[in-house]
Amino acid sequence: MSHLFPNYQRKEFELVKGSANRLTDQKGKNYLDFTSGIGVMNLGYNDPELNQVLSDQANLLWHTPNLYENHLQEQTAELLANGKDYVSYFCNSGAEANEAAIKLARKATGKSQIITFTNSFHGRTYGAMSATGQASIHAGFDPLVPDFIYVPFNEIEPLKAVINHQTAAVMLELIQGEGGVVPAKESWVQEVQALCHEFGVLLIIDEIQTGIGRTGSFYAYEQYQIEPDIFTLAKGLGNGIPVGAMIGKAELAGHFSPGSHGSTFGGNKLAMCVAAKVVERINQPVFLQAVQAKGEQLFTGLLKIVEKNTKIKAVRGKGLMIGIEVEDPHTLNYLVDQLQIAGLLTLKAGQTVLRLLPPLTITEEEINQGLLILEKVLNSEAS
Ligand SMILES: Cc1ncc(COP(=O)(O)O)c(C=O)c1O
Repeated sequence: MSHLFPNYQRKEFELVKGSANRLTDQKGKNYLDFTSGIGVMNLGYNDPELNQVLSDQANLLWHTPNLYENHLQEQTAELLANGKDYVSYFCNSGAEANEAAIKLARKATGKSQIITFTNSFHGRTYGAMSATGQASIHAGFDPLVPDFIYVPFNEIEPLKAVINHQTAAVMLELIQGEGGVVPAKESWVQEVQALCHEFGVLLIIDEIQTGIGRTGSFYAYEQYQIEPDIFTLAKGLGNGIPVGAMIGKAELAGHFSPGSHGSTFGGNKLAMCVAAKVVERINQPVFLQAVQAKGEQLFTGLLKIVEKNTKIKAVRGKGLMIGIEVEDPHTLNYLVDQLQIAGLLTLKAGQTVLRLLPPLTITEEEINQGLLILEKVLNSEAS
């Protein structure tokens, strides 16, 4: 018997090694990776420079508690602020980053109501799950944290109907990831921000899947001409080392006074040395321009493949975060399995969306290889 809880639906193979944008399973089968370990391995696998900083730090000191200064946290926080007046709190995962954001928003405003959106995903801990606008994720876990309200994504009137001076925060993903790779409309996001300003409400952007270069800018919010009060990161920040961050405007700093929040492992030295290097490497104009170009190459290639395929309903996304909407869950499962057999690892988002999140280091040639496999499988008779 397995001594694990069966809370994950696992495929019957194990990935045992990786290099750059490719993985190998226990039987020696090789895969081109269009998953990045669910948006985590933005710099690919077994990166020599990241291996080096991690092993240097491992040979020096693994962990110190947050009772002492930590220059690696200071360095990473400065890099994440990206020249603006933002301050960081470090934790170990996306859900924890969102917990911190929810707690800060309530403490800073003295209000409790938080508005989030239908089909959003913010994590599995109680606060983050309560923020998540999906009944299937709440099922069996009542009572949830009170005072979360869910309104339709990309629609302004339902938000106007509920936002008021008692609202602490509005929280959203700029591309709903788990919800099906659904980008927010730029004009809508700006209206949301304007409403937040009108009612003195904090705007929280969940960049856990969209941040760290994934959409072609270092943060996705940069493409929306907004300035979040709070935003959250995890996934790609540590390129596989567990780390999350909650980043807020400096004027909110005083509300997280000593003793108000914390984490034993948060900002751990191993995580911080890698995170600082990841941010340094990805937040470079040349690197981000390449992500945009590769995103366009993949998107255009997909449009060509699906233009005559009546079974594909839509292709959408930004940068290297792309979703292909198919007719039904059965087709989606079939496609993911067939792509894997053909040597391409892909993801699902929701019930009907095939999600592509290749490492940002994917090459032009590898994108063409992936497109060839996708063409064969998407246009095969059975799909
Ligand atoms: C947008 C978003 N927020 C939060 C989370 C939760 O992150 P974690 O699984 O690290 O807790 C995820 C994970 O998929 C996510 O995509």
